[in-house]
Amino acid sequence: MTHTQSPEDARPLAARKSPPLAGVAAVPGDKSISQRALILGALAEGETRISGLLESGDVHSTAAALRGLGAGLTQEAPGIWRVVGTGVGGWKSPAQPLDFGNSGTGSRLVMGAMATTPITAVFTGDASLRSRPMARVVEPLLAFGLTYEGQGPKALMPLTLHGAGGAQAVEVHVKTASAQVKSALLLAALNAAGTTRIRQDVLTRDHSEKMLKAFGADITVTPLAEGGEVICLTGPARLTGCAVEVPRDPSSAAFPLVAALIVPGSRVELPAILLNPRRTGLIETLLEMGADIRIQNRRTSGGEEIGDLIVHHSRLKGVTVPASRSASMIDEYPVLAVAASFAVGETRMLGLEELRVKESDRLAAVAAGLAANGVPHTIEKDDLIVHGLGPDGVPGGGTVATHMDHRIAMSFLTMGLASQKPVTVDDVTMIATSFPEYMDLMKGLGAVLE
Ligand code: S3P
Repeated sequence: MTHTQSPEDARPLAARKSPPLAGVAAVPGDKSISQRALILGALAEGETRISGLLESGDVHSTAAALRGLGAGLTQEAPGIWRVVGTGVGGWKSPAQPLDFGNSGTGSRLVMGAMATTPITAVFTGDASLRSRPMARVVEPLLAFGLTYEGQGPKALMPLTLHGAGGAQAVEVHVKTASAQVKSALLLAALNAAGTTRIRQDVLTRDHSEKMLKAFGADITVTPLAEGGEVICLTGPARLTGCAVEVPRDPSSAAFPLVAALIVPGSRVELPAILLNPRRTGLIETLLEMGADIRIQNRRTSGGEEIGDLIVHHSRLKGVTVPASRSASMIDEYPVLAVAASFAVGETRMLGLEELRVKESDRLAAVAAGLAANGVPHTIEKDDLIVHGLGPDGVPGGGTVATHMDHRIAMSFLTMGLASQKPVTVDDVTMIATSFPEYMDLMKGLGAVLE
């Protein structure tokens, strides 16, 4: 077990076979949009008012870092925040290291945003974040004139960044399928003179592009005939504070959603979930597996598509999930592997290499969790194949190592709600990094977690 906190602080929890889940699950605000709302607000001139902000460990770590960089952030009520920005290029060198806790998104986007401002900052985080590769972000930022000192070839934290003054626009081809890398480059481009051109082969989540436009940046996105797209941003940019409404997080909704599908007799409503097409790969896959998920009242909120999901217990069948879908469900594979365990037949999930560099090595953590609970599976290179045991066939009874990974914890707790024997996870404390209401919300639906 890797923990920053001492092992005595770890809180194990078991999930048991539960009665039908029923009710309304109001999941919290989207983590990606919450992080961007704070960061763009801190870079803008004037005031940004945010509603529906996710109040979680990751988001609070970013808020603290932005205060250290000179922005004013105030929580006015739960989910309602006021941010007074410095203007692009107005951040100052923080007096203390910036501690991002467990947050890859917060740290990587802030690295980009400071790369073209002549300040120095030290980035650090918990044991999980300190083991994650930062080279994928800082290496492409070198083109803007950034310099850094990190640990080893992966540029692990603690990492010192020296932003560049007088940066010029660059042309980059991003080959990593990562919205964080793309977003870091876009934020750096804000304070570089000229038009930065970023080509990305894989269509990753586009919240940064949409929100930068809403804050007044000169940004265009052009699809390429051969696949992928080119994003152009002209700097130096002036961003203007605005109102941001954060929709509910589909990646958090995934847990009550899959729980409702696998616990017999369940019916759960998930209102006002973000349905941005670059985030809906899990829903698409579950529908192919035969899931009864109805999407009602599709509408737009804060520039994003949202809708209400009505989910009934379903008989699932195994499917093949193409690698081309992975960016749109990258955080949902662990819980899909759980759904696949209760399906009839084989589910093949292709092209999961990015899972190895998440809050944990999620491919290894999922495989170990499946093994501990008697679910047959194979890993072939970067593909995971789960041999489904059907609705009543998952033995359970295992203890799962979460490796400081909130989504591994919530995924395997989901499994225990429908497996024959309870499933225990070794530590639930990290769930608060993305979904602090998880336990209360699931218990409110009838889940037995103890
Ligand atoms: C995120 C992008 C994804 C995702 C993460 C949030 C973002 O990471 O896994 O939870 O907000 O941009 P990658 O950029 O590493 O794919």
